[in-house]
Amino acid sequence: MTRKDEYYNRAKQEGYRSRSAYKLKQLDEAAGLFGPGNTVVDLGAAPGGWLQVAAEAVGPEGTVIGVDFQRIRDLDAKNVETIRGDMTDEETKAKLRERIGEKGADVVISDMAPNMTGEYSVDHARSVHLARQAFEVACDLLPAGGDFAAKVFDGRDLDALREEIDAEFEYVRSIHPEASRDSSSELYLVGKGRLTAPVSEGEERDVVVDDVGSEGDGVVKIDGYTLFVPNTETGDSVRVRVTDVKPNFGFAEVVDG
Ligand SMILES: C[S@@+](CC[C@H](N)C(=O)[O-])C[C@H]1O[C@@H](n2cnc3c(N)ncnc32)[C@H](O)[C@@H]1O
Repeated sequence: MTRKDEYYNRAKQEGYRSRSAYKLKQLDEAAGLFGPGNTVVDLGAAPGGWLQVAAEAVGPEGTVIGVDFQRIRDLDAKNVETIRGDMTDEETKAKLRERIGEKGADVVISDMAPNMTGEYSVDHARSVHLARQAFEVACDLLPAGGDFAAKVFDGRDLDALREEIDAEFEYVRSIHPEASRDSSSELYLVGKGRLTAPVSEGEERDVVVDDVGSEGDGVVKIDGYTLFVPNTETGDSVRVRVTDVKPNFGFAEVVDG
């Protein structure tokens, strides 16, 4: 029995609508995507296997919103909503944004896949296009610290997309879940910890130290974002170089001279 058959049978037995459900379980195990009470956006959600897995993972206090241009049959889970639409259309994106509201989402996941032509370079390019659409939605809907995962077929444009994601998240990983190993070119790019900081690594700034934190580092506020600067005192005017950017705070060092 191939892995495909194995997961297909398991999905039937365990009541999941797709064998893809196990890919999401494995992604969550590997990357820690979901927490109780999270708001999750699932792009390319039909027939609904990922919706079932995400709904279980976030629990009754959480919400999962699935989007697909195909109809998604109603699920038993009370914490799942669906929107029917094409994610490459601005109208669908606007609908989703309105539904999510000011607070944003905690996680954006995408299993969107193009209709396969069988021509590898075309299928790859289309899958990168869909993953990039999902990435744009993630940048729009995720506040600092949010996570992102999207399916993509391996190929020449993968590295460029990975770098784009890396710039907007604390780090990026490529994960090839065991449940998708039969389709060898499929993998998931996972961006952990959305960065919305007004500074980037390597950047230099002239700053005034506002305070000294409990660990003894100087504290600088830039548009509400906290930078810790070791070896400085309250009131110091210094030029700093940003050395590390995390979702909710960063570190900088004093530039000599
Ligand atoms: C592999 S299936 C998703 C399976 C799903 N994760 C599950 O577990 O049931 C890919 C889905 O992406 C959807 N899709 C592809 N392009 C899309 C687009 N532009 N907008 C919305 N959905 C799209 C397809 O209709 C299809 O249902």
